[in-house]
Amino acid sequence: MSWPYPRMVAHRGAGRLAPENTLAAIRLGASFGYAMFEFDVKLAGDGVLVLMHDATLERTTDGAGRVAGHAFGELARLDAGSWHSAAFAGEPIPTLERVARWLLRNGRMANIEIKPCPGREAETGAAVALEARRLWQGAATVPILSSFSEEALEAARRVAPELPRALLFGELPEDWAQRCLALGCVALDAHEATLTEPVIASAHRAGLRVIAYTVNDPARAEALIGWGLDSLITDAVDLIAP
Ligand code: G3P
Ligand code: MG
Repeated sequence: MSWPYPRMVAHRGAGRLAPENTLAAIRLGASFGYAMFEFDVKLAGDGVLVLMHDATLERTTDGAGRVAGHAFGELARLDAGSWHSAAFAGEPIPTLERVARWLLRNGRMANIEIKPCPGREAETGAAVALEARRLWQGAATVPILSSFSEEALEAARRVAPELPRALLFGELPEDWAQRCLALGCVALDAHEATLTEPVIASAHRAGLRVIAYTVNDPARAEALIGWGLDSLITDAVDLIAP
């Protein structure tokens, strides 16, 4: 696959400088010149796709309980910014649709991480893929869909095979290449600490691109890029030039 994505991708919007997975974070990342954004998407209780990392609300909102236990109308009233800092008080949990519209309007790209709530892997993978296809229809560059869940990626492939996929790994298992290829992925999406020059070269030989997360040290970023890394996900949008 040709690789239309930029080398640098902002993690959860703008890393740690703004509340993760909000439009405020994406706007801030964009103000640093970032052209592509990684964010986490899951299903609310009523099937609306929202940006949220955790399965529960406590860490990043003033709500409580499971995301899957709330309809979007309830989630929309929560404050997803105050936990970060007062300047972001009242920042809402955005839908995938709202974020897609902003990105498209501003010519920015997306790495949608499918982050299913436990037990909703296939349902979430299929829902994200169908919504991404609908929202990005006719766009110059479609989002890349990534997930730690092979079940979610398989479901995404079933409903929207044309959308590019990447399989995420924490530890890199021996059969990482076979598992990426079995899902028809275009990229290996690996924890940066597991990547070496030979691993990147072997991915490329297998026809896979390589994405690394989450690289916050500029020297490490430079080394990985020197080894041929295709894209790098970072929190350090203020330290690593886009
Ligand atoms: O998509 C890469 C990275 O975001 C995976 O880890 O926990 O930050 O979603 P996490
Ligand atoms: Mg993520």
